[in-house]
Amino acid sequence: MTRIICINRKIDVFKKKKISINGDKSLSIRFILLSSLSIGKSTAYNILKSEDVLNSINCIRKLGIKVSLKNNTCKVYGKGLFGHKFKKNLLLNAGNSGTTARLICAILVNANNKIKITGDESLKKRDMSRIIKPLEKFGAKIKSNKGKLPLLIEGTQKIKSINYVENLGSAQCKSTVMIAGLKALGKTKLKCLPSRNHTELMFKNILKIPIKFKKDKKYENIEFFGGKEFKSFNYHVPGDISSAAFFLVLTLLSKKQFLTIKNVNINPSRTGIIKILNMMGAKIKFFNKKNYRGELIADIYVESERNLKAIKLNPLLNSSAIDEFLLIFLVASKCKGVSTFTKLSELNKKESKRLDLGIKILKMIGIKTKKIKNHGLKIWGNPKIELKKKVVIKNFLKDHRIFMMSTIAALTFGGNWKIYDAECYKTSFPSFLKIIKNLGKKI
Ligand code: S3P
Repeated sequence: MTRIICINRKIDVFKKKKISINGDKSLSIRFILLSSLSIGKSTAYNILKSEDVLNSINCIRKLGIKVSLKNNTCKVYGKGLFGHKFKKNLLLNAGNSGTTARLICAILVNANNKIKITGDESLKKRDMSRIIKPLEKFGAKIKSNKGKLPLLIEGTQKIKSINYVENLGSAQCKSTVMIAGLKALGKTKLKCLPSRNHTELMFKNILKIPIKFKKDKKYENIEFFGGKEFKSFNYHVPGDISSAAFFLVLTLLSKKQFLTIKNVNINPSRTGIIKILNMMGAKIKFFNKKNYRGELIADIYVESERNLKAIKLNPLLNSSAIDEFLLIFLVASKCKGVSTFTKLSELNKKESKRLDLGIKILKMIGIKTKKIKNHGLKIWGNPKIELKKKVVIKNFLKDHRIFMMSTIAALTFGGNWKIYDAECYKTSFPSFLKIIKNLGKKI
């Protein structure tokens, strides 16, 4: 059954509050996959219990790895680099999770039977050729539906280490190559456009793999030797900045509110949203900064701001805010002036076509926009916008971030909103609606 939420009142009552948000999705999935490759029992605390992570756990269980999950503590009983079981006719379903679908293929690089991997309607539309190419170089044989799911993967017992150039700025593609590289005997060399660097940090600080990384003008260069087993580990998953972002924007666009979000991962490869909002006039600050196994963690403080100004965004910042652009477009709609965003074609390759759908939603609420070729967008901001009309959001492939962005828009732009597929926020941020209610909002 499709659940719908209806919102017809702007938020105005939370004033000064402190909240905690769920654990980071990228780190939770990396914990599941990497601990399954380690030897012994690994424990993660504050793991994200969202649909994407549960799908990741289900897939790894089907590969013969024992996993227990109680409250937010997850124990994985790893069997080493070559300990997964590849049963005949095995089907892995990654659901909506692109990270699971892509990264788990690396674990299949030595599968001795053909393994099928599929996903939901949204995931079946997403590009898998970006990981098929490097995995074939490692020696895997892969059949696909024109570069999309379902895939049929048969591994090799002679995994060749590879040199690979990653030109999309995709952390999922980079991580797939890195995980497959763990199983190859020689040196894996990667040149990649910048993207979130959690896998590199986990290799270095947790798995203790001697990994070299060097930045040049254009690329991040990564080198390490595979074939060496590593021990199990324990990990405390910090809060997800991509989830925190919804509450940063809710506070920023409300009146006279002050919010602290505790214990959030502020890895610089993820903090584009903060830099961009501050460029628009927000005054977001970090407190209690600490380093946890290479990841930076802090409490984030934000307050409402009436004088927001438009920006022309340098696309070098795109990768560090890649999951937050729907929110950035929303803020640009309340800025004084015309904002410009470019080189965002990857946005149309996410859980839904986020660039196109973002434009559609802004148009529905009366904001003037202009698409720049297939990769960019101009937004004519209107700081005085006050909606009175009815807005209906549906047919968005159950994209969790479209749902949550629309909810924040409803709470800050006024109007009478009906948003379909209200369950889908559980893909990445299961306590989203609960936090909104705790902040005093009835929806
Ligand atoms: C992720 C990488 C990003 C991001 C996704 C999570 C990851 O995707 O959009 O939500 O955990 O590595 P791409 O690698 O496709 O950019």
